[in-house]
Amino acid sequence: MAYTHAALDPALKLKQPGPLTRIAESLGLNILAKPEQPDILDRLHAEHEIFKTMLDDIIKATTAARRSALFRNFKRLLTKHARAEEKVVYDRLTAKRANEDKLIGFEGNVEHELADALLLRASKLGNKLSPEWTATIKVLKEMLTHHIREEEGDVFGKVREHFKHAERDAMGLEFEAMKKQIRA
Ligand SMILES: [Fe+2]
Ligand SMILES: [Fe+2]
Repeated sequence: MAYTHAALDPALKLKQPGPLTRIAESLGLNILAKPEQPDILDRLHAEHEIFKTMLDDIIKATTAARRSALFRNFKRLLTKHARAEEKVVYDRLTAKRANEDKLIGFEGNVEHELADALLLRASKLGNKLSPEWTATIKVLKEMLTHHIREEEGDVFGKVREHFKHAERDAMGLEFEAMKKQIRA
C-alpha cells in the first residue's frame, strides 16, 4: 500500500473538490463548498489509522528489503507524530493544575518512551526476517494499539474538555508545522 502525502494530510484531501462539492457549488451551496478544516483530533486520528495499517504491512512483508523500507518510513512518520503530539497536546495537559490532567499527559509521555525503545530495538536488529525482529514489531503493534485506544479515549476527552473548537483548529495547524520542523 502506498502512503501518499494526501493520506497523511486530511486537510489536503478536504481541499480537493469532489463531484458533490462541484454540484453544491453550481447550486450556490457554500456549506459543502467550504468544508471544515480538520482539527487536532481529526489529524491525530487519521494518522493513528495509517500507523496501524503500516504495521500490518510490515509484518506481512516477506522480504528483508521490503520490511526494511516499510519500517524506515514508519519509524520516521511515527517519530514526527509523537514529538509533535508531545509538544502540542501532552505539554498542554501536564501544564494544567489538576493532577488528573497531568497524569494523562505524563502517561502518554511514558508510553511514547516505550515506543521509542522498541523502534530503536527494531532498528538495531540486523535480520529483519528473524523471529526476534518480528516479535519486536508485534510487541510494538500491541503497545501502540493500547496507546492509541487510551489516547483517543482519555486524551481526546481532555482536549475536548479544555480547548474550544477554534483552539483545536489552531492546535491542528501547530501540529502540522511542528512535524515539518522535526528531523526524524
Ligand atoms: Fe497519537
Ligand atoms: Fe501518542
